[in-house]
Amino acid sequence: MIRAIISGACGTMGRNVAECIEKDSNIQVVAGVDKFNNGAPFHIFSKFSSINVPADVIIDFSNVSALDDLLDFAVETHTPVVIATTGYTDEQIAKIKECSKKTAIFFTFNFSLGVNLICSLAKKAAAILGDGFDVEIIEKHHNQKLDAPSGTAIMLANSVNEVFDNKLNYEYDRHSKREKRPKNEIGIHSIRGGTIVGEHDVVFAGNDEVITISHSAASKKVFASGAVAAAKFIVKKQSGLYDMNNIIDFD
Ligand SMILES: NC(=O)c1ccc[n+]([C@@H]2O[C@H](COP(=O)([O-])OP(=O)(O)OC[C@H]3O[C@@H](n4cnc5c(N)ncnc54)[C@H](O)[C@@H]3O)[C@@H](O)[C@H]2O)c1
Repeated sequence: MIRAIISGACGTMGRNVAECIEKDSNIQVVAGVDKFNNGAPFHIFSKFSSINVPADVIIDFSNVSALDDLLDFAVETHTPVVIATTGYTDEQIAKIKECSKKTAIFFTFNFSLGVNLICSLAKKAAAILGDGFDVEIIEKHHNQKLDAPSGTAIMLANSVNEVFDNKLNYEYDRHSKREKRPKNEIGIHSIRGGTIVGEHDVVFAGNDEVITISHSAASKKVFASGAVAAAKFIVKKQSGLYDMNNIIDFD
């Protein structure tokens, strides 16, 4: 039986992960970490350094502010960790990569199979369409989301940008400039409202034709089940950085 710690256990995603694990006979939650305790059916620690139960894996859906505490614990105890939190700075992402040399880390901005598939499709479309098409990404999320643009929008932009040797600049929301769209950019636009779980469109706009690759998540369960699958995958892995490409072959 795999023993898991959920970081951000009392949040929306933490509770979804706990529900997903409850239905799985191969993994159980031994503890949670959260700033608040809203009555979870397992012990909630306020920080990682207080944890006194052994665990095989950590699943993190918390907040960027929890990163240092999380990584210190994971490295010190050699516990593999699935990081799902979004909104990290470039420095924090560099720290995640550095720590993956000491313990196994599964890190992706989106744990849904569908989103990872559209990343691969967007990359293929960019390679076929080339620089004759302008790429714009539109993401929509609920009004409680803290970060913008979404980690997934950046993940999609990075997939397209790889095709162009990472030479394209990212232009966010385009409101601060009054000028024509240059060729060497990807536009990224965020919409926040209501209870939208997560929608992403990658628009390839060419001369007289437009191709749109879309994904829409109907519930947060898709992210929870993807993160639990990642936890089961990473639990016995050596140090290193892993993502959905290690679980599914998108090529
Ligand atoms: N990668 C993915 O597929 C994916 C999918 C959904 C959400 N997310 C991300 O997961 C994160 C959590 O999302 P959510 O909707 O559950 O948010 P939420 O606000 O409902 O939950 C976050 C939880 O983390 C706790 N928390 C905040 N700071 C903390 C700290 N320093 N130490 C310990 N606990 C702390 C909060 O008390 C809260 O219970 C967000 O960054 C979100 O963007 C990622």
